[in-house]
Amino acid sequence: MALQEFVEELDSLSASAHQALTSATNEEQLEEFRVEFLGAKNGRLKSAQKLMGSVGKEDKPAAGQKLNETKKLILGAFDDAKARLLSIEADVLDPTFDPTLPGKKYRLGRIHPITQTIEELKDIMGRLGFSIAEGPEIEDDWHNFEALNIPGEHPARDPLDNFYLSVAEKSGVSDAGVGQPTLMRSQTSTVQIRVMENNPPPIRVISLGRVYRPDTADATHYPMFHQMEGLMLDVDVTMADLKTVLRLFATNYLGEDVTIRIRPSFFPFTEPSVEADYFWNGKWVEFGGAGMVDPNVLQSVGYDPETISGFAFGLGVERLCMRRHSITDIRALFTNETRFLHQF
Ligand code: DAH
Repeated sequence: MALQEFVEELDSLSASAHQALTSATNEEQLEEFRVEFLGAKNGRLKSAQKLMGSVGKEDKPAAGQKLNETKKLILGAFDDAKARLLSIEADVLDPTFDPTLPGKKYRLGRIHPITQTIEELKDIMGRLGFSIAEGPEIEDDWHNFEALNIPGEHPARDPLDNFYLSVAEKSGVSDAGVGQPTLMRSQTSTVQIRVMENNPPPIRVISLGRVYRPDTADATHYPMFHQMEGLMLDVDVTMADLKTVLRLFATNYLGEDVTIRIRPSFFPFTEPSVEADYFWNGKWVEFGGAGMVDPNVLQSVGYDPETISGFAFGLGVERLCMRRHSITDIRALFTNETRFLHQF
């Protein structure tokens, strides 16, 4: 047989294979194709292979190559057709599949409103140039009281107002704090001290986190809540800067040009101390304490109060979140009732 003839034979074989495959619409037809074309004994591909014997010796390499190509083409097309039919069967030909049925509804979780508030506060304060600082929730006497100008006999240390833990024991690593009481921190002002101990001025940080006080839970109290602490220290920081930051914060968070007012107050760690209110929905609402950092505090961390000044503030996160969403009972934020949480 001439090479030319052999090639034509194979071309027509692959053309008819292609045609058979494209018109196959089910598995039986595919099986018929397999027997007719790929059958090991009498398949048409096998017969074509036998024709090789009659091709002249010098044409054998070319004929062999052609045979291999044709085989590859047909097997490839067969696999494609198989995959096509399988996917059609799975999707459409499955008699139990009803595309008109409603889909499965997956209940998506949501971010807790307190976490949402914290993220928003970080965002607003970030735009005012404040970065984030963190501190531990189990604190020692020094950071929760002493360094904040709250000496030994101060009523803020009352065991009825604090969750005291055990006295710190020797850990084997260092003697720092050994013999001192530890407690669940009662305020995030502790982080002010930790930041100042580890960084030279200027400082502009906020710290958001949980604080703990043994209050009985009611609509406005909970034994654990969140605070946002702010601290800004530099040369020549004044009360005007404090007021500006508080006002920008309030207008950003409440989304309108709210008026704020500050009233004289007292905190051991600030001098002078103020309480800040904003006018919102026809009422004055208290939103936190603030003041100029007391020179005693600056000294306790080794800063020079003659050259460095600054302000600090502490706001209740729950209170801000509750005002914003008109939530009237703080306990709703901690009972994890999904019907409540799904609203935010
Ligand atoms: N730590 C105070 C509290 O828990 C709030 C506070 C008041 C924080 C004045 C401050 C501040 O940084 O300057 O009630």
